[in-house]
This record gives sequence, structure tokens and C-alpha cells, in this order.
Amino acid sequence: MSSSTRTLIRGGLVVTAADELHADVLAEDGRIVALAAHGSGLAAGWTAARTIDATGKYVIPGGVDGHTHMEMPFGGTFAADTFETGTRAAAWGGTTTIVDFAIQSPGQSLREGLDAWFAKADGNCAIDYGFHMIMSDVNESSLKEMDLLVQEGVSSFKLFMAYPGVFYSDDGRILRAMQRAAHNGGLVMMHAENGIAIDVLVEQALAAGHTDPRYHGEVRKALLEAEATHRAIQLARVAGAPLYVVHVSAEEALAELAAARDKGLPVFGETCPQYLFLSTDNLAEPDFEGAKYVCSTPLRPQDHQTALWRGLRTDDLQVVSTDHCPFCFTGQKELGRGDFSKIPNGLPGVENRMDLLHQAVVEGRISRRRWIDLACAAPARMFGLYPQKGTIAPGADADLVVYDPEAEQVISAATHHMNVDYSAYEGKRVRGRVETVLSRGVPVIDSRTYVGSPGHGTYLPRGLCQYTG
Ligand code: URP
Ligand code: ZN
Ligand code: ZN
Repeated sequence: MSSSTRTLIRGGLVVTAADELHADVLAEDGRIVALAAHGSGLAAGWTAARTIDATGKYVIPGGVDGHTHMEMPFGGTFAADTFETGTRAAAWGGTTTIVDFAIQSPGQSLREGLDAWFAKADGNCAIDYGFHMIMSDVNESSLKEMDLLVQEGVSSFKLFMAYPGVFYSDDGRILRAMQRAAHNGGLVMMHAENGIAIDVLVEQALAAGHTDPRYHGEVRKALLEAEATHRAIQLARVAGAPLYVVHVSAEEALAELAAARDKGLPVFGETCPQYLFLSTDNLAEPDFEGAKYVCSTPLRPQDHQTALWRGLRTDDLQVVSTDHCPFCFTGQKELGRGDFSKIPNGLPGVENRMDLLHQAVVEGRISRRRWIDLACAAPARMFGLYPQKGTIAPGADADLVVYDPEAEQVISAATHHMNVDYSAYEGKRVRGRVETVLSRGVPVIDSRTYVGSPGHGTYLPRGLCQYTG
């Protein structure tokens, strides 16, 4: 067999969601072909065009970030990362797959919305990518289109209980979409906040002169996240459909998920690093700096973090995604000076997720395998990409990260690669850093040098949700 397309990663500790094994990993033609435990002698005859020494390092599957918004239009502006800059930054952070959200704008078909996102991504991505579909107009025709999208690999649909007049769907529309998903195998992803009630509180806050960023957190109450989460769960039950709740931030909302899962319902939840590491203290930073932390659902008081970490350990939450939706402080977040409701919603983070979760391993909050489960395997299963993505096994794509668990780094906008002028984690010291990243066997980051190219990343048609837990 020719060794010309082979890469051998020697000497590392292979960590997957299921196992930890000191082993060599052989990749050929973009796929993993074999693993050989150190000392087994199995790798003795292996030859390769390239050998990477991973002694003292981890060899982990490339991260799967199931929730990003490159170039997303929001509040009169666009998320600052393009598919080119955002996927490059993702690779720097050890993520080799993103699932981004295509948007159906009002009046558009799902097809038109999806095609617009194909055009944005095509030829521009450094890593592989798939799409979820945001449905902002649930009607007879878009319901029928859901079936076609599922068949062609866009198997999940985000609905919003928030943002009336923009993305919002009422309960009847939500129920119809869930019924359709129950029939076609699609997964409904829910932005669970009671947007109608929130808009009343926004109006009242502004009328009282409460215009600072911290009021964004105060009006988007935890109880309104919990209420919407409860309602979404009941609607999914009535429809007989599974449900995935995105960006869970409130302890009360997590309790709704836990109660549903205790009943054995197919209800799943995701949280994001911002809710695990940041809080309303950040939203309250003076001189409008709090705007950097405006996202929805909002950051919560610190005690919610304890509940979220527990939920990750007990599997009441299955996935950590970033909800990467970056807006520069200058010129974008600033649109909301004097009116917090005009601050574009979203935080940068696609580059930081793997490192922040590894820091949680260092601090003993989660195990090494749980790190890989939450960031790689579970999202791959949830979104129909497993075992092509999310693990290290023969036949899987050779999306591999050599990770140095001892390297120290300080997260900063001065050194990050996301196209945004601030870091939500500025100055945070973490242990662990990506060293080398392969996407389908091709180096994207090589010993901390970017060697990738826009256009290497290919579109991933996805199967149905494979998550059964
Ligand atoms: O604030 C957020 N999360 N922005 C992105 C859009 C969404 O709701 O996920
Ligand atoms: Zn959302
Ligand atoms: Zn989002």
C-alpha cells in the first residue's frame, strides 16, 4: 500500500468520549484506518509520508460546533466573521466541523434561504460545515419543504419563541413544525424565551430610563426562559417529536429539561461557554462595556453556572456549542448606546470552546472523556454526523487534533483569530492549547502555524439525529 497519503500520529494519548488509550493513529486518504496501542507492536511496520510526534500530548477528535452564525444578519448589521474568517478561527481552536444556521427570511421559501447560505459558505471554509435551517415563516409550503430538506441532509430546524416580528413563531406554528418533524425525522431546535412577555418588559424598562446593557439581562428573565422551555417540551410531547433546546442559561430552564428527561422524554439541551464562565457581572461592566456580553438567552447570575456544570455532568445537558455570533464593539455593539434593545445579540467564541472546556477538565469540573463527548461526539450524534465526525475510529474522517494539555495561554483579542475587536474572555488564563489540526488528513494548523485554505472545507449532508440517550 502506498504511504504517500498516509499520516501517522505517534506517541500520544488518544482520548475519545468512550476511551483513553496510549496509541498511534494512522490516517490514509482522509480517513482513519487503524489505531495501534503502544507496546502492541502493531504499528511497527507502518510507514507514512508524514509522522507527527504527539508524545506527552493528547490526540483528540476535531471539535464539532453545532451552533454558529457566520455572517448572520441581526439588528441592522451582520455577524463579523465570514465563513472564511470564522472557520479559520474555529480550526485554530481545534474545531473541524461547524453546523451553521441558514435563515429563511420572511416571504422566502426555505430553499431560497438555504441557497443563500450555500452561496456564502461555498469555497470559503477551512473546515467542513453543515447547515440547520431557521424557520421564520411556518406555513403550508415551508412545512412541506421540511421533508425535502431532511432528505438532502438539512435535518434540523430552529424555531424561535423570542424576537416577535423577526424570527418568532406562535405556539400553533411551533406545533405544526413539530408535527412535521415527528413525521419526517427532523429535529426541532428551540430558542426558548417568552418573547412576547420580554418585549413588554423591554418597553417598560426603556420608558423608565433603564437603557444600559445590564437591563438586557434583567428583562429577559430566567422565569421566561423556563416558561418557554416548559411550553416547548409540552408542545413536543403533544406532537410526538424530539426536542433540542439551544443555549440554555437559566437553572430554572434546566430543571424543566431534567424533569422531562426523568420522564424518559426525548428532550435534549445545549449550553455554551459564555453561560459557564461569564455572568451578569459582565453585563453590568461600566462605560457600555457590558454590551460585549449581550446575547440571548442572556448571561445569568453566577449561581446558575453551578447548576449548568451539574447538568453537564448528569447528562441533563448533552452538548456545549458556542452560538458564535460575533459583533465588534466599535460600530456594531455601539448601535445600542442609549437603548440596550438595539445592541446586536451574540458573542464570539468559536475559537475558545475546546480550550475553555479543557480548563474545566483541569479544574476537575468534568472528566477528559466528558470533554470530548460534549464538544465532539454528542454534537456529532445529535446532528447526524457520527461516526464520520466526533470520534477516532477506523473509517471516521481523519479530523484529528494534537492537543498540548500543559501549554499555558492567556485568551485575548490581541492574539485570537476571530474577526472581532474584543474577546469575551480577555485575560483569562487557561491550561491546554491546540498544536496541530488535521481536517480529513490535511493539515490546517501545523505546529501552531495556519496552513489551511478556504475551500478545503466541504459541505456535510447530515443524517437524522442519532442521539438516543
Ligand atoms: O444572542 C444570540 N444568541 N445571537 C444569535 C442568535 C440566536 O438566537 O441564537
Ligand atoms: Zn437563539
Ligand atoms: Zn444562535
